[in-house]
Amino acid sequence: MVATAPVPGGARVDMSTRLGAFQMPDPVLTASGCAAAGRELAPFLDLNAIGAVVTKSIMLNPRSGRPTPRMAETPSGMLNSIGLQGPGIEEFIAKDLRWLRERGIRTVVSIAGGSVQEYQKLAQRLRHEPGIAALEVNISCPNVESRGQVFACDPLSAGSVVQVVRRHTSPDVPVLAKLSPDVTDIVAIAKSVLDAGADGLSLINTLLGMVIDPDTMRPMLGGMTGGLSGPAIRPVAVRAVWQVHAAYPRVPILGMGGIRTGQDAFEFLLAGASAVSVGTAVFNDPHAPARISAELHDILAARGFARLSDAIGLGHTMQARHVAAMDARRAAEQEALG
Ligand code: SIN
Repeated sequence: MVATAPVPGGARVDMSTRLGAFQMPDPVLTASGCAAAGRELAPFLDLNAIGAVVTKSIMLNPRSGRPTPRMAETPSGMLNSIGLQGPGIEEFIAKDLRWLRERGIRTVVSIAGGSVQEYQKLAQRLRHEPGIAALEVNISCPNVESRGQVFACDPLSAGSVVQVVRRHTSPDVPVLAKLSPDVTDIVAIAKSVLDAGADGLSLINTLLGMVIDPDTMRPMLGGMTGGLSGPAIRPVAVRAVWQVHAAYPRVPILGMGGIRTGQDAFEFLLAGASAVSVGTAVFNDPHAPARISAELHDILAARGFARLSDAIGLGHTMQARHVAAMDARRAAEQEALG
């Protein structure tokens, strides 16, 4: 269906969507690392109304993170080098998960580890905790057992992590693998984690970057390199979602990377995302997830969509139609020329 006219009678668009077995009434989630476990956003936002809170990636043990400074602004986005600071899984469960559960907030727990065994322990520890709608497996971490190679950059390591997490997670809880754009072929990594049992994909994590301070003449971040986020990475993210959806059209994708407006979110849907996460935008607009959802609703309504789900991957259909029309026109022109 290609919608072009407003929904008749100003009816509301059905904004519900799903990531595997996880159904939500709204397609906009927070992004891991940008909203902690939701508490700080609660004064600004009805956290029960958005798709879900995606928590900051939690590791097995408490972690103080990388040296400061940990954030640097660039003319084209924000660099962060937090280093997965966090309280460790036990405190997370006792405080953060409990806080989210008591309020009935849909929660996607993001986990990160330095070894396959650490991911396994995290999955085992979370398995019987109620109130987890999905697990997001952040594999953009160095593998401490393999020369510091980032899991998400190697199909075999990425697949090994997802396999153990899937095996030790309740079948009712979808496992989403969060991939890095810092690879030559993101579809190959997607294949590996899907073969290993991932139910869906989160695309994309930040891009590795660096800024050098011209005054001190050395890297601005204490950890030297950091992850670039914000609108500058949006075309990279849309490209990744497009490529993976083209290869695996039935796989649910949580799209993210520089989403600031409803129009940005619409672009991700057209590329093939079933839902979107909003990250960096909340730092200067804590209402952003709700605002973006409302803007997206109005865009869909103005274009005559009755359901958000009809827009998922529609860019591919439109492109195929366009190519077919161009081919038909060229063929007709050739024929006319004799
Ligand atoms: C961090 O805590 O350094 C960010 C982790 C990530 O980008 O996955």
